[in-house]
Formats: sequence, C-alpha cells, structure tokens
Amino acid sequence: MRFIGKRRGGPAYFKRKKVTVIGSGHVGATAAFLIAQKELADVVLIDVIEGVPQGKALDMYEASPIQGYDVSIRGSNDYTDTAGSDLVIVTAGMARKPGMSRDDLLSTNVKIVAEVVGKAVRHSPDCILLIVTNPLDAMVYTAKQVSGFPRSRVIGMAGVLDSARMRSFIAEALDVSIEDVSAFVLGGHGDMMVPLPRYSTVSGIPITELMSAEKIREICEHTASGGAEIVRLLKTGSAFYAPGAAVVEMAEAILKDKKRILPCAAYLEGEYGVQGYFMGVPCKLGGSGMEGIIELDLNEDERAALQRSLASVQRLVEQVDALEHF
Ligand code: 2OP
Repeated sequence: MRFIGKRRGGPAYFKRKKVTVIGSGHVGATAAFLIAQKELADVVLIDVIEGVPQGKALDMYEASPIQGYDVSIRGSNDYTDTAGSDLVIVTAGMARKPGMSRDDLLSTNVKIVAEVVGKAVRHSPDCILLIVTNPLDAMVYTAKQVSGFPRSRVIGMAGVLDSARMRSFIAEALDVSIEDVSAFVLGGHGDMMVPLPRYSTVSGIPITELMSAEKIREICEHTASGGAEIVRLLKTGSAFYAPGAAVVEMAEAILKDKKRILPCAAYLEGEYGVQGYFMGVPCKLGGSGMEGIIELDLNEDERAALQRSLASVQRLVEQVDALEHF
C-alpha cells in the first residue's frame, strides 16, 4: 500500500491552521515547540540567520514521533513560505542584557519589527499579528502602523506573562495550587506595570483577604521586576520559557476561538480614558483576535498607577514616531 504523507498538511478536506513565528531565538523557538506539542497549527519558523530556523524546525519535527504530534514544522529565511498564515507571532529583535531596561532596545528593535511585519503582512494580509518583541507597547504600536490592520488583529503579549509571574509568587506565598490562583497585571510592559491585587484571587477570594498589605506589596514589586531578575541571572539574554508559554496561551485562544479573557496589549480607543495607545487591559481573545475590552472599575490609586504607566508608554511611542520608519 502506498502511503501518502498525511503529516504534511493533512487530507484535502482538513485544513489545519497555519502559524508563522518570526524570530527563531529562545522565545520564538519555545513558542513554536509548544504550538507543535499542542497540535495547534502547522508552524513556519522564520529568521534572517540562514540555517538556524531550518535546524531548529527539523529538530522539533524529529521530536514529534516521541512526543506524538502530527503537525508540519518548517524553518525558512523566505517569507513566501509564510503565505496564508492565520497567525503571525513576532519575536524578532534584540533581548536585553543585565543593566538594560526594555526601553533601551527601542531604536534597534523598531527597525526589525517594522521590516518583518511589512514582509509578513504582504504574504498573509488576513492574519492576526501577535507581537512579543520589546519594548512591547511601542513595538505593537509599530506593527499597527506598518500593517494598517484594525485593532482586532494587532495584539501584544505582556499581561499574560506578567500575570503568570504574579500568580506564581502568590501560589508560593500562600502554599496553594497554582491552578486556583488568578491575577491581573495591567498597563505597559515596563517598570511601571500595574499589578491589581483587588482583581487577583485564589478560587475567587481576593488576595487582599488572604495576605498582609506588606506581603502583597512585595509580590507586586517582585512581579514588576520579574523580567529583570531573569536577565540578571542569565546574564546573556532574557526570559523565554514563561514568555513562550504566555504566547501560546494567547495563540490557543485565537486559533481555537476560545473567547478567553486575558490581559493583552490592546489599542485603546477611549477605554480607560486612553486614546491611540497600546496598553495592557483585560481583553476577549477569540478567532477574530481582540474581540472586546473589559473596563474595570478602578479606584483612585489604581487609576493613578495606570496613568503613570501610560506616561511611560507615551514617551516610547513618541520615540517611535520620531524615527519615521513608516
Ligand atoms: C520579560 O519580561 C522578556 O520582557 C520579557 O521577561
């Protein structure tokens, strides 16, 4: 019997989703591997460096008989291979080194993000863009400017990562299962991010009823400095397991049209009193991308913290606009 390779694309009546991951560094490769392991989509891994995306994709494909996933994973330097992607995840760019803030990466990464988004959307004009490159709030703004996509199809990953850090610290402090802990971190993905203890719960119980104000303050500070802590430890780059997992949680919500409520960097058109900037807010994520924003009733302190975070996002966006890359 002749067997026709069903692992490459599937039978004619079944169309698997297609995801392009741009940037085959640690975050991109981790996200690609998790997408494959969850069988969410066929994956194309793209990078400017010849051989690296091909080698990593082949390595992941060769893990598939052991892990048992039936998707195609290909590496390429050629954007024609990305054509018709449902979701394009942008991780390309420099990661920070010890002593750097995410904002120090702006002038280098804005050029990279503008270029790769331009190429990607030419080949996948209907895709949803999920931006991961730092400084996140400025890079997702760059992607929106370059693509001209509606806000539903340009989303930034940050809040899921920051909230995951907060969740892990809460679970550790209370010695409870991570499964029962949820947390919300809003605002920009920078030092001024806004963890929201009132909306962070253990099985629905706000942590404000379970911990001292002092412990909560400690957890909020640890959350905001969580990325820098990993940079300090690694010395040669920044975090990638938790960022990769956060990307895939968002990708899954989109690819499976799950309508998850997750903190995402969304383009605000009046919500939270903000006009024309990306910031982390609770969003509904589904098959059309960012399908809605939930406006929380913030108290005075929370509103002030969000304003301070907005001011730092605005400073970054001014720098992007001054660079005139589009
Ligand atoms: C982080 O927070 C890389 O920005 C990312 O670790």
